[in-house]
Amino acid sequence: MLRNAYLTGKKLIRKHPLNSSTEIRLTHLCTQRCRQCQVYKRNVDPAVMPLEDFKTIAYRLRQYGSNIGFISGGESLLVPHLIPILEEAKKTFPVALTLVTGLYAKTDLVQKVAKYCLENNINIQTSLDGLGSLGDDLRGAKNFSETVLHHMNLINDLKGQSKSLLYTNIVINNLNMDQVPELIAKARTRGWKCTVGLYHHLTETTTKDRELIIQDGPRLEKLITFLDKNPDILNLNSFIRGIRPYVQGKTTLPCPFVASPVLMTRSTIMENGDLTLCWGGPIGNLLKEDLYSIFTGKRYTQRLNEYSSCNGCWTTCYTQRYLLIKPSSAAEAWDNTRKLWKLKRKS
Ligand SMILES: C[S@@+](CC[C@H](N)C(=O)[O-])C[C@H]1O[C@@H](n2cnc3c(N)ncnc32)[C@H](O)[C@@H]1O
Ligand code: SF4
Ligand code: SF4
Repeated sequence: MLRNAYLTGKKLIRKHPLNSSTEIRLTHLCTQRCRQCQVYKRNVDPAVMPLEDFKTIAYRLRQYGSNIGFISGGESLLVPHLIPILEEAKKTFPVALTLVTGLYAKTDLVQKVAKYCLENNINIQTSLDGLGSLGDDLRGAKNFSETVLHHMNLINDLKGQSKSLLYTNIVINNLNMDQVPELIAKARTRGWKCTVGLYHHLTETTTKDRELIIQDGPRLEKLITFLDKNPDILNLNSFIRGIRPYVQGKTTLPCPFVASPVLMTRSTIMENGDLTLCWGGPIGNLLKEDLYSIFTGKRYTQRLNEYSSCNGCWTTCYTQRYLLIKPSSAAEAWDNTRKLWKLKRKS
């Protein structure tokens, strides 16, 4: 912790990215075939990050200083050495660690990994985009909602005194909008919180599907009214309130990577060590160079130049960081503080 505080101070003075949040995608292998996603179509070698590579990457992240980590995929449960990876990740991300898993796997495996996470206060994030046949269609998986809800229930039963935060992400699209309140209710009865995101096709791992693109209208208006200040939702309220103006094409914010590189840079590390920011492919590889070289290198500067003319987005990973750090009013700042405080008490 102390060393991290020292490294943070040094980066603030030198104006280098703090690297406050890092996502590590351990594999592109997946048990689902979601319409919105093409992670599983990646054709890179190795398909699963070996433990030794993870250790090298984790060492380089610690050396630079890292705070919040997400261990993700593909389906992270398909990684045979997931528990040793989580053990290493715990040492690397002192502020918070989250395992991101679709929970669409054998129950024994779900149980074993969930137990480890709960014992070590590692948060668990899953995905719940639709119920019944709509869920199966969106996620390309048979009995999708039954399977995931069953596993959510089971994990909640194991929770005991664990400080792990359990939450499910719901990607809102034009087909599932009317189901969102029911999805949230199903999560609540199983003791899980929710985050909502908007379907997009901004990055290389997402797919353009016209049917999923959110259309403005009374359905969206009704949904936003329902989500506004909803206690089961972990998103910032400013994010929720900005959804409709964004869909109507009225609001965009400056790109967070450009507006505040020090505070808002979020990195994603792929199974082969490639480090990416948002769209545009890798800007370096953590198996070949350290994070300091990447963030002071030409490719990073070039990428920020490209992002400065991006059309903008409304995403949980990027936009929300901007809204958190640059609230538009004192009331919004107060709202953000309250939300963070509640979140801290829950975890
Ligand atoms: C890439 S997945 C990896 C973890 C795991 N496989 C899962 O689905 O939860 C992480 C999150 O991104 C979301 N996602 C995937 N494609 C998306 C898209 N086109 N737009 C918005 N969110 C998307 C998923 O639904 C999931 O909540
Ligand atoms: S969103 Fe997650 S579960 Fe769906 S295909 Fe992509 S990685 Fe797999
Ligand atoms: S505005 Fe920035 S974060 Fe948003 S899509 Fe463009 S490059 Fe990505």
